[in-house]
Amino acid sequence: MEFAQLPAGASVLDVGCGRGAALFPAADAVGASGEVVGIDISEEMIRYATDGVRERELGNVTLSVMNGQSPDFPAGRFDAVIGSCSLFIWTKGEDDVRPYAKLLKPGGRFATAAPSFFGTLQGKWSLFPDAVNDLLLPYLLRSVKANGAYDSQFANAGANWLGTPQLIEKTLTGAGFVDVDITEEDLPVVCTSGEQWVEFTYTTGMRGMWERMEEKERDEVIPEVARRLDGLKDDNGLITTPVPIVYIRAAAPGA
Ligand SMILES: C[S@@+](CC[C@H](N)C(=O)[O-])C[C@H]1O[C@@H](n2cnc3c(N)ncnc32)[C@H](O)[C@@H]1O
Repeated sequence: MEFAQLPAGASVLDVGCGRGAALFPAADAVGASGEVVGIDISEEMIRYATDGVRERELGNVTLSVMNGQSPDFPAGRFDAVIGSCSLFIWTKGEDDVRPYAKLLKPGGRFATAAPSFFGTLQGKWSLFPDAVNDLLLPYLLRSVKANGAYDSQFANAGANWLGTPQLIEKTLTGAGFVDVDITEEDLPVVCTSGEQWVEFTYTTGMRGMWERMEEKERDEVIPEVARRLDGLKDDNGLITTPVPIVYIRAAAPGA
């Protein structure tokens, strides 16, 4: 949200809003004179987000179940379109990002964040701690082959528009954006045990990788992942694994 620099009073679309991790800070940033429209393909996510809106008593948020690949709004409807760790799931290139440029008013802001793919060409998946990357990568690639949804950007790493800062800039410029700004920053994921890290991954799309393993494989791999990560505990018993996140912002051309 900080990087998106949403001004007070802005009208914002949050694509793939989930339970509202970005949506709620966006609602705070734009204030009562602004509005945030959250869409997500999952009814359950929208249900959770609706509960969050009610708890926070937000009057400037509307939510609906909608496929972010074909957002059904008039051209030029929003001052900003954001997508926190969501757009990367389904955008493969210029054509997939262009709809968001069209939804923006002249000079409007586009901002998105994603797990960084800059390491994928070197065989590193940013969501895996270095200590277990070699162990888990083969299973991730196998699950990508079997399913190809959440991890599909990884499956075709060479053609992934998020693979390098240069490709991101080229893609967004090709989709009609200007003033592209990209920065990568580590998000520290902290856990108290290797086992807790595994539990955490079950709450994310990485669950797909675990679920597509044979039970016997899981029984071997999970204790080894836990053992390696437990070896990283600091003096306070905490394991800190940095997850590189890429933050991207751009603008629609001015009037
Ligand atoms: C990793 S979560 C991120 C959620 C939230 N933006 C956040 O920062 O916590 C990705 C979200 O994208 C949603 N999603 C996946 N495919 C989608 C699509 N085609 N259209 C809209 N939402 C989608 C998922 O349901 C999920 O809520």
